Amino acid sequence: MKLSTPSGFATEVFLVEAPDRELLPEGPWTLVGDLRLREAWLAAGLPEPSHALWVSVPEEEKKLRTVIPWLEHWAGVPLHREATVVALGGGVLSDLAGLAAALYLRGVAWQVWPTTLLAMADAGLGGKTGADLAAGKNLVGAFHPPRRLVACTSFLGSLPPRHQENGRWELVKIALIQGELDWAAEMLQEGPVKIPWVERALAYKAAVVHRDPREAGERRLLNLGHTLGHALEAASGYGLLHGEAVGLGLLGSCLLAEDQGLKAFPPAFLGTMARRLAALAPLVPAWPACLPLLCRDKKARHVLGGGEEPATEIHCILPRPGEPAVQRVLAPQAWERPHARLMDLLDQEAARA
Ligand SMILES: NC(=O)c1ccc[n+]([C@@H]2O[C@H](COP(=O)([O-])OP(=O)(O)OC[C@H]3O[C@@H](n4cnc5c(N)ncnc54)[C@H](O)[C@@H]3O)[C@@H](O)[C@H]2O)c1
Repeated sequence: MKLSTPSGFATEVFLVEAPDRELLPEGPWTLVGDLRLREAWLAAGLPEPSHALWVSVPEEEKKLRTVIPWLEHWAGVPLHREATVVALGGGVLSDLAGLAAALYLRGVAWQVWPTTLLAMADAGLGGKTGADLAAGKNLVGAFHPPRRLVACTSFLGSLPPRHQENGRWELVKIALIQGELDWAAEMLQEGPVKIPWVERALAYKAAVVHRDPREAGERRLLNLGHTLGHALEAASGYGLLHGEAVGLGLLGSCLLAEDQGLKAFPPAFLGTMARRLAALAPLVPAWPACLPLLCRDKKARHVLGGGEEPATEIHCILPRPGEPAVQRVLAPQAWERPHARLMDLLDQEAARA
């Protein structure tokens, strides 16, 4: 099924059960695929270009150095300007392959075939490509939208349960941005993730990205849960998966919003979120490990105050029950209390389990 996207949107979006070779590029193309998916790709009868790259890239290798051999390989083939790169894999692979496509010959076309729930629901759409630097997540990258996103749900069959859960949080994020508490609560129930949720999330994200492709305003809302989330993810040494860190960041954001005087979320809703996240409690880094990472957030601004040290302000997204989330610029220290309350809530739920 082809999803309807705003007129002129850079990416065609397909959500299908089985992979369809008709959706591959018409002209010359090459593949960068996750080695784990090779068997499934070939078993589905999909073609494998002779110069395909099958790779395994863990989150901690989402680095510029990982893409240099890919670029050298393409130059050696050689791959021409009219070629399209097909990226098959999770968000790490698609962020890097999209970045490589943006860099090679100053930009060649690419398609994304996401194979994790997180990449289907979020990472594959929106044109953000990137890699991490030692100072933090996604600090280098390019806006380079894929021509086509092909989400084949049959690929999810082999995805480990932890990664199924991981993707759920980016969906909950989309509901919370819009203040859709009932939808968020439905997605927090036990049971598998439903494809119509993915469809709904993709439609919302496409509309936001179309209105604000370069994240000058409204698109920042999509960072809900990510300010604290990125800090937790990096401080945990990537022991926390991206979506898990976003889930913790979402709960932290609900608590921060309350601290900032916004309408509080119902305790039962916060309890449900905490229950789903409680098993992660041992992986959550302590506050002193998070603070320096919050100060180095990509969206941090360093402002010269009256004192000798420049003060840091970070852009925060605050969710509200029943209403769209709002944007605020706050000191990183504003997260200290929500972080402590988050830990308490997780501990309470873990003790109850
Ligand atoms: N560009 C964006 O807008 C955006 C948005 C959200 C997240 N991201 C990025 O996405 C990354 C996280 O992506 P992720 O959660 O997909 O993790 P991932 O790419 O690391 O994939 C998770 C694991 O699952 C394996 N895998 C992938 N598909 C599989 C399948 N079908 N069956 C079995 N195993 C499979 C991978 O080899 C990997 O070990 C983070 O780096 C994050 O920054 C980017």
